[in-house]
Amino acid sequence: MNAGRDNDDSRLIVALDYPRQEDALALVRALPPGCCRLKIGKELFCAAGPELVTQCRDAGFDVFLDLKFHDIPNTVAGACRAVGRLGAWMINVHASGGRHMLEAAREALAGLPAPPLLTAVTVLTSHDAPSLAEVGVTGGVEQQVERLATLALSAGLDGVVCSAREAARLRGRFGRQPVLVTPGIRPAGSSDDDQSRTVSPGAALAMGVDYLVIGRPITRAKDPVAALMAVQDEVNRTGENLRL
Ligand code: C5P
Repeated sequence: MNAGRDNDDSRLIVALDYPRQEDALALVRALPPGCCRLKIGKELFCAAGPELVTQCRDAGFDVFLDLKFHDIPNTVAGACRAVGRLGAWMINVHASGGRHMLEAAREALAGLPAPPLLTAVTVLTSHDAPSLAEVGVTGGVEQQVERLATLALSAGLDGVVCSAREAARLRGRFGRQPVLVTPGIRPAGSSDDDQSRTVSPGAALAMGVDYLVIGRPITRAKDPVAALMAVQDEVNRTGENLRL
């Protein structure tokens, strides 16, 4: 684990992918505080509003606000400042917004008393080489991920959201410093749902990922708390083996 990032060592981020605030809060209330971090995405944020971030924080959880901003630099800076003031632990933007947008986001947060970590989405996992080519990006997914990660890190961002496979390459290229956040995590025996390139929590950690985003294997489990604890056990065991 990279040192000095924060004091809480929970590497699991549970994606609260619910359409309604009540459903999200029911899970939040059932979870032991501090056992994981929570991710709030566009659907839930638009339905529940900023107050949910405060409610999760008050319940003892760090919040990754996954709103993936992408707009002109001035607008993204204002949006980052606004969500930074909510007390989110991590927020993100699209690296493809370009250097000026990325620097504006970073500078907007620098003025806050407790700025969140700022990460960049490189290439959405819904893209493949043909769909990238349709929007004018030739050369394939991996090359574009590396190009955008290089841009985001050189603009001073804290890290990137990427698949575990990309994480291994990026860790090799950029070393220990960048924060790497990875979705598509599936414990043994759980369904892949609509994720096409899943990895287990242990494998993701071995590939150099810092934070694992996991949604349906926990949120749709019969007993979400038990499912979370089972993943947490695997994370702890792997962490000990890898001496993270
Ligand atoms: O349910 P599941 O574990 O597949 O949820 C993964 C979460 O990570 C969802 O909130 C999804 O939107 C998000 N995500 C992803 N792939 C990306 C970026 C975010 O699955 N490339």
